[in-house]
Amino acid sequence: MYLDCTIGAGGHSQAILKRIVPGGKLLGIDRDGEMLNLAKERLKNYRKNLELIQENFANLEKIIPGKERFDGVLYDLGLSILQIQKKERGFSFSVDGPLDMRMDRQQKLTAEQIVNEASKEELCQILREYGEEYYAERIATAIIKERKFSPISTTFQLKRVIAHTVPKRRKRIHPATKTFQALRIAINRELEALEESLPKAINLLKKRGRIAVISFHSLEDRITKHTFQKFAQSKSIKIITRSPVVPAQMERCINPHSRSAKLRVAEKL
Ligand SMILES: C[S@@+](CC[C@H](N)C(=O)[O-])C[C@H]1O[C@@H](n2cnc3c(N)ncnc32)[C@H](O)[C@@H]1O
Repeated sequence: MYLDCTIGAGGHSQAILKRIVPGGKLLGIDRDGEMLNLAKERLKNYRKNLELIQENFANLEKIIPGKERFDGVLYDLGLSILQIQKKERGFSFSVDGPLDMRMDRQQKLTAEQIVNEASKEELCQILREYGEEYYAERIATAIIKERKFSPISTTFQLKRVIAHTVPKRRKRIHPATKTFQALRIAINRELEALEESLPKAINLLKKRGRIAVISFHSLEDRITKHTFQKFAQSKSIKIITRSPVVPAQMERCINPHSRSAKLRVAEKL
């Protein structure tokens, strides 16, 4: 029995299912109902082996009562490119759309609310903590100034405010990159969800079962590393990847989105 906590469009799950049919089962979770529909379509030939649930992986104990039943648990964190490209989801500054950024569209809080209602101090804290944005204060001040004239309600509006505020970076990344990332992490409480979920997932592993976490952000990787270390100290798990596995040069060229990926794996003792 396998658990994919971030099934997305089902690519990883498909690879797992191919190896575990006919007897094996996979439970796939995603917060985003649209992604679950894509997974359902892609994995329709595995209906008998598959169960899909729309939930936040922070709530594993609610989804899976009891313990010790999985041979493998996978997290492939962040967003799917399919979510990022959809302009109506508001995740990307490359397309003009509403400032939304909710993974679960039933959630009330949107990016628009934070951008237009948070205090300067709150905005600064989000940009510093989740975006590691050097120009946090400047950007927060510019947002407050802009919203006095009119609410900031689209991705392009916010991108413009940031582009006018932040000096062009020497590196290749756009000046709005870190702000968008920070807002997304804050709205979806991504780090809190991971922190709550990992210990529960480890407890759900059978003896010799493995947990694999692919992260794209240094703070996510730090949470994974520290959780694994804590459980390794109490001899609950053995860490398989002493340092994280990162994509090779070739993979980074073929798939630039993979450039910040880090994989950590541990095994239940
Ligand atoms: C990088 S994508 C996964 C792609 C997937 N591995 C595939 O092969 O298609 C990450 C997915 O995790 C989901 N997700 C992120 N945080 C989540 C959470 N806390 N609970 C449940 N799903 C989450 C996102 O909605 C997204 O669909």
